[in-house]
Amino acid sequence: MGIVQSTTFLPDPPAHIAIIMDGNGRWATRRSLSRLKGHEQGAKAVREAVKGCRELGVPYLTLFAFSSENWKRPEEEVNHLMGLFKFFIKRELKELKEVGVRVNFIGDMSRLPEDIQKLANFACEETHENNDLVLTIALNYGAQAEIVTAAKLLAEQVKAGNLDPQDICEEKLAGFLDTSDMPDPDLIIRTSGEKRLSNFLLWQSAYSELVFLDVLWPDFDKTCLEQAIEEYYGRCRRYGAVSV
Ligand code: FPP
Repeated sequence: MGIVQSTTFLPDPPAHIAIIMDGNGRWATRRSLSRLKGHEQGAKAVREAVKGCRELGVPYLTLFAFSSENWKRPEEEVNHLMGLFKFFIKRELKELKEVGVRVNFIGDMSRLPEDIQKLANFACEETHENNDLVLTIALNYGAQAEIVTAAKLLAEQVKAGNLDPQDICEEKLAGFLDTSDMPDPDLIIRTSGEKRLSNFLLWQSAYSELVFLDVLWPDFDKTCLEQAIEEYYGRCRRYGAVSV
């Protein structure tokens, strides 16, 4: 697979890059291939993204692999994607573990086939001591549902008498999100030229810099990653304050 030991760390890399991997279908259609081939090629680009983040010293990478809305796709495509996720974990886990990657998942995993749930848990357990790069794969993930779940958990605490509604604040709600143990993304990249978040990390992206690349996901490589980070470096992040 070729994830090499990183040697070229950036001076101040984004701590967390999240990617909406879009354009697999168009990549395939343009080559008169089936959409499934586009996803297969997309899995190869996942390796490029992981390798690039490791080499540049980015500590958190989150990939939007399957949204809670993607179940609406044809059954054949959904099944193929599930097969690819399984294949990816099985094939890459050993090397990911060896090079210091911690594998993590967000999303409602309970609706996924049981073998994927088991494999995902296994991958998390096997790599939980790693710290070089946290690779989070969003599967059956939808940000609105994630926020609703957090609200329900807060409501249960209130009902049980353990929380005063007046004490509900941003930090408390964020503590019940799937991403509670990671920093918010500094940079969100979407490939394929589309310019929207599509229900991805809506809470966590409050102050993320958004970079939209024209490249289709299967063509994504380290140069694309560097191009996005370059654009990110040019942004002035004020968080609602004024520039000094
Ligand atoms: C969006 O492109 C892509 C997806 C819904 C699937 C993403 C999955 C992969 C990249 C496969 C491998 C992933 C892992 C983590 C191993 P699209 O199909 O909507 O493209 P289109 O808009 O051109 O039709």
